[in-house]
Amino acid sequence: MAVIGKDIAEAKQLLSEGELVAIPTETVYGLAGNALNDQAVAKIFEAKNRPSFDPLILHTDSLEKVKSFVREIPQSLEELAKAFWPGPLTLLFPKKEIISDLVTAGLDRVAVRIPQHPIALELLGELDFPLAAPSANPFGYISPTQAGHVQAQLGDKIQYILDGGACQVGLESTIVGMEEDQVVIYRMGGLDLREIEKIVGKVEVRSHSSSNPAAPGLLKSHYAPRKPFLVGDLEKLIPEYLEKGERFAVLSLARKFLLPADFPQYQLSESADLAEAARHLFGYMRSLDESDVNLILAEWMPEEGLGRAINDRLRRAAALG
Ligand code: TXA
Ligand code: MG
Repeated sequence: MAVIGKDIAEAKQLLSEGELVAIPTETVYGLAGNALNDQAVAKIFEAKNRPSFDPLILHTDSLEKVKSFVREIPQSLEELAKAFWPGPLTLLFPKKEIISDLVTAGLDRVAVRIPQHPIALELLGELDFPLAAPSANPFGYISPTQAGHVQAQLGDKIQYILDGGACQVGLESTIVGMEEDQVVIYRMGGLDLREIEKIVGKVEVRSHSSSNPAAPGLLKSHYAPRKPFLVGDLEKLIPEYLEKGERFAVLSLARKFLLPADFPQYQLSESADLAEAARHLFGYMRSLDESDVNLILAEWMPEEGLGRAINDRLRRAAALG
């Protein structure tokens, strides 16, 4: 089992020795290693059982440091960096040689983010290398939003989990890059697209595609519980599955349903607040996945703001592509 603690010096020590440490961010917990050390990077892929074609995000604490490992910062992306970093935004830049092909899975662009979490920022401020950090979950499973989630799944693979409490955003970062002069969104996430469009105008959203070679992490089945996960109109799904005699759980935005007393049901936000719903989503999916039901029934969020990013995760959890 890993040690869970708040010792930044311990985390720094391990990372400097090429070991992996789980770190808190505002989006989800990351499984971090020295991005300039190929052996540390290889350990990340191994611990997560992640295919090597799926590139990693670099984490650092200043735009100055970013400039030391990218060739060019397009103006629109610099404006986004200035507006939203530290924050739940990942930007794609042409990489310098110093960043190995292992990190980018051979792609010319590298993904970079400055996370908004005091512990992560303090740690990153003390390091003279960036951290490569994917979400700290086995490949394809639900991302961790608490230290205990990391312990449950990767605790036997790492020595230390830096505890920063529950993640305040709860969805992975929004991934943004440029193609020619067009700003493109490759993954919807914790930063609302409407905020991005206020700075750079209309963006193109590609993240729905399930076979997008530019972002191989966007596979059809991802962020997925082990139990069958169905998304649709709960008013119809619930009677249908009661009729079938199935024992199921319900995940709704705000409504409560009349169910047998021992059927678990969670509301993501009683006031239908989508930021609160995002914060709760992965933790609730995990609890329901661990409960003694045969399947999970969920409903779509309003297709606006963070609701779009939540729906993207629900779609992938249900492997609807
Ligand atoms: O919020 C987050 O982004 C979290 C925290 C820990 O920062 N990290 C995260 O990493 O979600 P991960 O590895 O689970 O997802 C990163 C995804 C990859 O699956 C891939 O689709 C995309 O980022 N990505 C990374 N590098 C890329 C690149 N060079 N070009 C296109 N997409 C890239
Ligand atoms: Mg992930």
